[in-house]
Amino acid sequence: MSDYLNELKPPHRILMGAGPSSVHPRVLQAMTAPILGHLDPDFARIMDDVMVMLRIVFKTSNSLTLPLSATGSAGMEAAFCNVVEPGDTVVIAANDYFGDRMVDIASRCGAEVHTVDVPWGKPVGPDLAALEREMQRHRKVKALGVVHGATSTGVLNPMPEIADLAHRYDALLIADVVTSLGGEEVDIDLWGVDISYSATQKCLGAPPGLSPITLGPRAVEVLNKRKTKVQSFYFNLANLETYWSENQNRVYHHTAPISMIYALREALRMVMEEGLEERIGRHARNAAALRAGLEAMGLEMFADPGYRLNPLTTVRVPGGVNDAEVRRQLREVYNIEIGGGLGEVAGLIWRIGLMGDSSSESNVLAFLSALERVLLDEGYEVARGGGVAAAQRSLVG
Ligand SMILES: Cc1ncc(COP(=O)(O)O)c(C=O)c1O
Repeated sequence: MSDYLNELKPPHRILMGAGPSSVHPRVLQAMTAPILGHLDPDFARIMDDVMVMLRIVFKTSNSLTLPLSATGSAGMEAAFCNVVEPGDTVVIAANDYFGDRMVDIASRCGAEVHTVDVPWGKPVGPDLAALEREMQRHRKVKALGVVHGATSTGVLNPMPEIADLAHRYDALLIADVVTSLGGEEVDIDLWGVDISYSATQKCLGAPPGLSPITLGPRAVEVLNKRKTKVQSFYFNLANLETYWSENQNRVYHHTAPISMIYALREALRMVMEEGLEERIGRHARNAAALRAGLEAMGLEMFADPGYRLNPLTTVRVPGGVNDAEVRRQLREVYNIEIGGGLGEVAGLIWRIGLMGDSSSESNVLAFLSALERVLLDEGYEVARGGGVAAAQRSLVG
């Protein structure tokens, strides 16, 4: 029976899955501010603030930098549908679930899609020979797509090398920074990424609902020279830009999700207060402590060393342990959410997120001690307190 007449009272979970991450009360509070009209000059100033701070986190001077009114998949959809036309060749370096989603989206845009498959858990690069061979096989590759922080595998792909390769073949580089932005080094202009998109619910620390996207000059030129109409009305960036543009009279495109823009502004303000580099350092420190703790408990990491994503750690489910039961107990007894494996690693790995406000020492220590209890319950022998002690040693340095 549905309890729809009851007051809404979701529990305060500790969100340590693959996103959403926990949202700071300041950000939630911002969402309760009075609603303004989407063409109100006071709201326009808030939009301007958001664009300025997004450029700082993306490290770009791209003027076309704005938040799309939908989740991260919207960024992916917009990235491809604005520059890819039917018949174009697109190459995707796929080593996770979201690389596969890129393949699907690019093919829906009518592209001839070629993939270079890398085993899950391994990075795309630094040996880019297979990718280079694929780029060479085609007369003209319109775009090369890659996920920077692979949330389904916990791998961080080496972007600068991949960007160099794309540029040598005069292809646009489309980089998914959904999980890395705000938690790992991302430098759109230095790397020369042409199109990049993210999502608010991971390291940026806002609820799910917006997808910041940025397009550099080469991508804008391709967009302006299209022969065919962008097949999506909602994600047509040329029109969206007229609504978001700082220098023009804003023209209605769709009704902006006002409260979400407030939330993003507050979340970005918190990134500015902390400092981007400090924030990236915090994600690295807490991830190192988590890994130290997990390894001390005899658990095996899934992603290759040297290419591990700090906002999301993947660890193999030990033999004989019931994956779903461990996650259920963590959630129901300890109030902690972690992620299970997606796609081909479903049931084989756990995905432990330390993103945005969720990336804290206290979450690392609480999680390791809860996991120890649950694993002992499952009959997996682990030295009492070993995980927490190793994490503490890592944190103290
Ligand atoms: C790397 C990556 N790309 C894209 C997406 C899709 O984002 P969303 O679920 O917000 O639509 C996700 C979601 O987790 C992701 O991790």
